[in-house]
Amino acid sequence: MMQPILYTGAMDAETLYLMNELTQAERVTLGCWKCMHGFLDGIPVVIVRTNQGMANAAASTALAIERFQPCAVLNQGTSGGHAPDLHRGDIVIGARVIHMTAVRTPDRERGAGIDVESAQPLGLEIANTESGDGRKMTEFFADPALLRAAEQTPWAEGRVIKGTIGSGDIWNNELDRIYWLHTNWGTMTEEMETAASAQICTAYNIPFLGVRILSNTAVHGESFDESTGVKCQKFARAVVAQYCNTN
Ligand code: 5AD
Repeated sequence: MMQPILYTGAMDAETLYLMNELTQAERVTLGCWKCMHGFLDGIPVVIVRTNQGMANAAASTALAIERFQPCAVLNQGTSGGHAPDLHRGDIVIGARVIHMTAVRTPDRERGAGIDVESAQPLGLEIANTESGDGRKMTEFFADPALLRAAEQTPWAEGRVIKGTIGSGDIWNNELDRIYWLHTNWGTMTEEMETAASAQICTAYNIPFLGVRILSNTAVHGESFDESTGVKCQKFARAVVAQYCNTN
């Protein structure tokens, strides 16, 4: 049988729709994370609720990879917009993912103050079992076949664009910081899990894609709308169907 596709999402609002749609659904013990196995549209899938944040995303993704050897990982869920032309309900396909809070600050004397804008991306080490330091990466690119499938997925419910997702254990509300992240690092939207999942999938050499819907955007004063989580799951499901039809 085909290896399963692993869907990850941080919250109930980002995973329950998919879990409830499963056929032959089975609850699986996966450490301290909620995990379901079953079939969606005839495709074997595993769905993990990672809980929020980078450590949870990394740990639960690694456990699920070890347990199920998925052929691909799709991290999806809600996010907060950075790009001025994006609104709540719009979807960003993560062609590129960066870790917004993995930064190296410049050398500065005591009393010289703090300058967030001079921070440089800090390479994230890709784990391996060899001696010496691992490869360091500052950005992660989507698997080309998954990216193509996402781009080709029909979606009538709103705008879908391709771009950079920024992750970190942070919720930004400072409009100047959001503007700086968008203009300097190219972030279209921010959330708290995708880069951690991408890092682990890179270490395991498993095709990865992140897909995020805007549930809120400080840029336009649009507050968190939980129902966007269901919409993103529906889009993710359509992406996986497209991927399995063409690969
Ligand atoms: N900033 C950070 N995380 C966000 N999330 C939704 N909107 C934002 C935002 N503006 C997502 C995160 C996390 C939870 C708080 O919701 O990925 O799981």
